Amino acid sequence: MQTVLITGCSSGFGLEIARYFLARDWRVVATMRTPRDDVLPPSERLRVLALDVTKPESIRAAVSAAGPTDVLVNNAGFGAASPAELVPIEAVREVFETNTFGTIAVTQAVLPQFRKRKAGVVVNVTSSVTLKALPLLGAYRASKAAVNAFTESMALELEPFGVRARLVLPGRSLETRFGENARAHIHGFDNEAYAGLVKGVLARLEDTASPLTQAQDVAEAVWRAATDPSTPMHIPAGADAKAWAAEVN
Ligand SMILES: NC(=O)c1ccc[n+]([C@@H]2O[C@H](COP(=O)([O-])OP(=O)(O)OC[C@H]3O[C@@H](n4cnc5c(N)ncnc54)[C@H](OP(=O)(O)O)[C@@H]3O)[C@@H](O)[C@H]2O)c1
Repeated sequence: MQTVLITGCSSGFGLEIARYFLARDWRVVATMRTPRDDVLPPSERLRVLALDVTKPESIRAAVSAAGPTDVLVNNAGFGAASPAELVPIEAVREVFETNTFGTIAVTQAVLPQFRKRKAGVVVNVTSSVTLKALPLLGAYRASKAAVNAFTESMALELEPFGVRARLVLPGRSLETRFGENARAHIHGFDNEAYAGLVKGVLARLEDTASPLTQAQDVAEAVWRAATDPSTPMHIPAGADAKAWAAEVN
C-alpha cells in the first residue's frame, strides 16, 4: 500500500486530494497547521499531522512522524493581490515564505528517502496564473513561478534516481477558502490611482459565468501526476486552466 503526504489539508484542494487518495486505498498523511480530526472520513489508513511549512522544526517532526512516504504533494499556499508599486516588501516575503520556501523546504526534507529508495514522486501545486500575465498578482505569480522553475530543474536532477517531479496548475476555483484567505494579503486596493484597475479585476475574479476549476479537477490531476509516469511536467487542472494552457502552447 502506498503513502501520500499532503500539505494544507484543512480546506480546499488539499482536503479534496486527501479524500481522493483515501477513496483509492492509499495511506494518507494529511497535514494541517492546526490538525483537525473532523474534516476527513475516519479511516485506519488516515493520519492527521501538524505541519506549518514555514517552520523547519514542524517540517522535521511531520516528515519523521509520517515515516516512509511514496508521494509528496506540496499544496499549502495562499493568494495575495496588490499593485506592484504598493505591495509592502514584507508582504512579498510572506507569500514567498509559504508558497515558495515552504514548498522547497518540505521537498528537501522528503527527497533523501526518495533518492535512497530510487522511487517517489513530488507533486507541486502551483497555479495557472503562471501561464499568463495578470495585473495585481505579481507577488503571488512570482511565488508560484519560482516553484515551477525550481521543480523543472529538480526533475532533471532526480530522473537518474528514478524519482519524478510534476507541477499541477489549477485554474480559478471558488469552492475553496482561497479567496477568503487571500483577503488578509491585499494591499493598495484603496489607492485612487489603481481604483479602476482594481474594480475590473475584482469583477473578473468574482465572475461565475466563465469556466472554473473544481477541487475534484485538482485531485484528479494530482492523482495522475502521482500514479502515471507518462504525465507531462505541467498538468493544468480545471476547464479554465486547460483552455489557458492550450492558448500558450
Ligand atoms: N483556489 C484557487 O483559485 C487556486 C487557483 C490556483 C492555485 N491555487 C493553489 O492551490 C493551493 C490550495 O489552495 P486552495 O484553493 O485549496 O485554498 P485554501 O482553501 O485556502 O487552502 C489552502 C491551504 O493551505 C494551508 N496553509 C496556508 N499556509 C500554510 C502554512 N504556512 N503551512 C501549512 N499549511 C498552510 C491552509 O491552512 P490553514 O487552514 O491553516 O490556513 C489551507 O489548508 C494553494 O497553493 C493555492 O495557491 C488555488
